[in-house]
Amino acid sequence: MTGSGQAPLGIGMVGCGNVSSQYVAGLAGHPGVRLAACTDADPARAVALAGKTGMRALELDALFGDPDVDIVLNLTPVAIHPAVSLAAIAEGRHVHSEKPLATDRDTARAILAAADRAGVRVGCAPDTFLGSSLQTARAEVDGGRIGEPVGFSVAFVNRGPEVFHPAPAQFFGEGAGPVLDVGVYYLTALVHLLGPIRAVVAIDRVTFPEREVLVGPAAGTWFQVTVPSHVVGAIEFVSGVVGGFTMSFDAGATAAPKLELQGTAGTMVLGDPNTFDDTVRWRSRDEDTWTEAQVVGPKGLGRGIGLVDLAAGIRAGRPHRASGEFAYHVLDAMLAIGEAAATGRRIDVVSRVDRPAPLGAEA
Ligand SMILES: NC(=O)c1ccc[n+]([C@@H]2O[C@H](COP(=O)([O-])OP(=O)(O)OC[C@H]3O[C@@H](n4cnc5c(N)ncnc54)[C@H](O)[C@@H]3O)[C@@H](O)[C@H]2O)c1
Repeated sequence: MTGSGQAPLGIGMVGCGNVSSQYVAGLAGHPGVRLAACTDADPARAVALAGKTGMRALELDALFGDPDVDIVLNLTPVAIHPAVSLAAIAEGRHVHSEKPLATDRDTARAILAAADRAGVRVGCAPDTFLGSSLQTARAEVDGGRIGEPVGFSVAFVNRGPEVFHPAPAQFFGEGAGPVLDVGVYYLTALVHLLGPIRAVVAIDRVTFPEREVLVGPAAGTWFQVTVPSHVVGAIEFVSGVVGGFTMSFDAGATAAPKLELQGTAGTMVLGDPNTFDDTVRWRSRDEDTWTEAQVVGPKGLGRGIGLVDLAAGIRAGRPHRASGEFAYHVLDAMLAIGEAAATGRRIDVVSRVDRPAPLGAEA
């Protein structure tokens, strides 16, 4: 995506755990970025990843100031995100963070303010809205396929991450739960399609106060659940669109993720917004059949494309799409959902953000 013929921007990866290999794959083949260095609190992980990728494994403190590192890619656990992002910014590095930016508004705003002062940029996952599925949906919505958007139905109703993750307690503590961990993909997709959120209401519950680790070395041990694990609510957008959502780790069986948009002229069904290339289908008011939308944008993009776009934006002097401000608005809305459920009140979402530009010809 970045202009060819210019030196690629160097990426310094902090955190070489589960998701790091997805980034290595997703960043491959993009000439505007180069995997330069990596580090991890567990140095053996950094050395192992460096051996596979050609990155240089560095000490934690050395990476932020390394001359080859232009952008720090923050792939640490949620609780560590702010410390790593702020350390990178303090060394004058741009940052692209895994989601969420932080787990409270003050800290997230402090990261954005520090970056502003330092004259560097902040990007944040998820970047799946840059995939062909959500770019196609965006083109269809903007082109009027469903008429005026009226509502949406969103459902992620699953067994919990303990079915696949060896350390699942982190998904049931502060900064996680189904809304912050998975709902972030749905809300990001919706804000990308419909614009900013005005207010939310919600009700939640904890079905299992303790859960069992099911895979890995700790299998058979139990952990406490400290955040709601089944959340139901409704969201009002500034545009007037109103829709409902369920985010749950408490179902006995996993159902296909659901993301449906309803408009005055038709309905559109999207795939899983935590993937890049699911099919988009629509059905108009006057037809009985579903039609597959013509794909817009490149297929085969992967995690890290938001970072590629950040690098391209830096070069071109234009805004990047998976921005810290966009992530902040989604975080603001996710925290409001928790507050709405805890208080039984409708909570206004104060922040505002413009929809990021479609990928269009730049892809
Ligand atoms: N695993 C996935 O499929 C996935 C998907 C999407 C997003 N994410 C997000 O990516 C982030 C990382 O997830 P993960 O699954 O790779 O976690 P992980 O626990 O597998 O890896 C995190 C790594 O960060 C290292 N680390 C911890 N503290 C550190 C510090 N202070 N400095 C440097 N390294 C440190 C750990 O040693 C570990 O290797 C999380 O924010 C998660 O929400 C993960």
